[in-house]
Amino acid sequence: MNDFVYHIPTKMYFGRDCLGKLSNEMKGSGSRVLIVYGGGSVRRTGLLDRIKDYLKDDFTVFELAGIEPNPKIGSIRRGADLCKAENIDIVLAVGGGSVIDASKAIAAGACVDFDPWEFYGGPRRPIEKALPLYTVVTMASTGSEMTCGAVISNDETCEKLGRGGFPVFPRASFLDPQLTFSVPRFQTAAGAADILSHVMESYFKKDVDFFMLDRMMEAVMKTVVANAKIVLEEPENYEARGNLMWAASWAINGLFGGGSRQVWSCHPIEHELSARYDMTHGLGLAIITPRWMRYCMKTDPDTKQKFREFGAAVFGTSDEDEAVAALEKFLYEDLGLASTLKDAGIENTDAADMAASICKKGKINGYLPLDEKAVTEILEACV
Ligand code: NZQ
Ligand code: ZN
Repeated sequence: MNDFVYHIPTKMYFGRDCLGKLSNEMKGSGSRVLIVYGGGSVRRTGLLDRIKDYLKDDFTVFELAGIEPNPKIGSIRRGADLCKAENIDIVLAVGGGSVIDASKAIAAGACVDFDPWEFYGGPRRPIEKALPLYTVVTMASTGSEMTCGAVISNDETCEKLGRGGFPVFPRASFLDPQLTFSVPRFQTAAGAADILSHVMESYFKKDVDFFMLDRMMEAVMKTVVANAKIVLEEPENYEARGNLMWAASWAINGLFGGGSRQVWSCHPIEHELSARYDMTHGLGLAIITPRWMRYCMKTDPDTKQKFREFGAAVFGTSDEDEAVAALEKFLYEDLGLASTLKDAGIENTDAADMAASICKKGKINGYLPLDEKAVTEILEACV
């Protein structure tokens, strides 16, 4: 077992009536609120009006609309400038991972006098201060509501980079599974693939052997597989949506890291795809993950044992090949996600060029170290 410190300061509200507590929870943090949201789903569902209604007695509300999926630095700059111009006290994210990540970067960008991209690229300045952030989650996926990380894209430099800092942990997050009833089929499926990947990235570690965490991760992965299938058939199934939603938060909130020093394997590869092709994050992971598993087993047969364990626990399979096949069936048949980059609408990929960019600061030191050649091979198998 490795040493670690586990400290999540985010208060989590879960359930049908949780939004009613939003105003009270935010009161101590100020009175001028910037509500940040995406391309319009919160308007269509009426959620934005409901939230404004909850806040109208105690807050002056400002809005920043149009955060894109794979949020762009231009939106962060707009948001940070607005916070400064209007003396905003609180940032309230209402949306999925993209809106929450953008809100984190805005909350930090509002407190500095340099370009917020400098948190990410170039000098990679530390996030030392941020406006208080609250989130209302509308989609089960990234778990950003319970982490201090935010992934932002820069289309000028064609980079998609993650950055974290304690000050951007949400003060409180509000999870009402009913808000996810309207998530379209494809986004629901991509979100489930992302949650599963977050757990897998922690489950396949060589520097941690933690029986309790492995069993907890298996339970979360089983939860994702069982409940994703249900919500695709019954989008308004509260129990299934709720299970997915809470699984999403726990998949990435640091508990499963267990003090590991290893980085994740599939996420850095996917971020290059979404930087270049604006690909949906969970879809990219669904295409990459089975290829990564095969690459690991071929390169280092010692990894087979853990893949066998994974398959047995999550899908009831009996060997490592069946485990990969069961995962593929889940991703491509049950969730209905595209199984190749071509089927996802991405052609003429240059695997070697992408691999060079992914490994420009060195290899990915994940479950197996992945150098440029390894990443090229995995990406070529995705075509
Ligand atoms: O923009 P709107 O109109 O709101 O529509 C969104 C968007 O088009 C829609 N949607 C969300 N909730 C909905 C809804 N539509 C109807 N009803 C609802 N209730 O879904 C679409 C996708 O939303 P998005 O926020 O982009 O999805 P997701 O939550 O998967 O976030 C993806 C982003 O998070 C990053 C990804 O790389 C990507 O940029 N990640 C963030 C992480 C983190 N902060 O720790 C870790 C992850 O691994 C990931 O990298
Ligand atoms: Zn992810």
